[in-house]
Amino acid sequence: MNVKLIDLPKLEDPRGNLSFIEEENHIPFKIKRTYWIYDVPGGEMRGSHAFKESKEFIIALSGSFDLVLNDGEKEMKYSLNRSYYGLYVPNLLWRSMDNFSTNSLALIVSSIPYDEGDYIRDFDKFKMIKNEAKK
Ligand code: TYD
Repeated sequence: MNVKLIDLPKLEDPRGNLSFIEEENHIPFKIKRTYWIYDVPGGEMRGSHAFKESKEFIIALSGSFDLVLNDGEKEMKYSLNRSYYGLYVPNLLWRSMDNFSTNSLALIVSSIPYDEGDYIRDFDKFKMIKNEAKK
């Protein structure tokens, strides 16, 4: 699936720990945008789409949630719950986020500016695009 859990630097300190991300160093793309998802009511799901081009790196800065990824054939679930690692999600993967804990905070860095045209929001269309790509 080309998905990768990436450990970030963690500077442990009695004053509190510190982690960071550098583009093209800890993550394999240049950062064009950062957004975050928070105040998710219990039981809600986010995502349910794929991106044509956008690559993302997703971190649970606080709390926990699950990422469910589907490449058109198989599904994988990743539970994120620490702020010193994250999941690299390449383009052309269907993804959903659910099981958010109370007060969880998902930080997402993306390789492109926001562009609704980059979204694939229909799962059947996503599968069609994946099948075309295989040919
Ligand atoms: P969407 O990406 O569908 O949310 P999620 O995948 O996290 O459930 O985005 C929800 C809405 O927010 C949609 O109308 C587009 C808008 N949006 C922006 O304007 N800029 C952004 O950077 C993002 C991620 C979303």
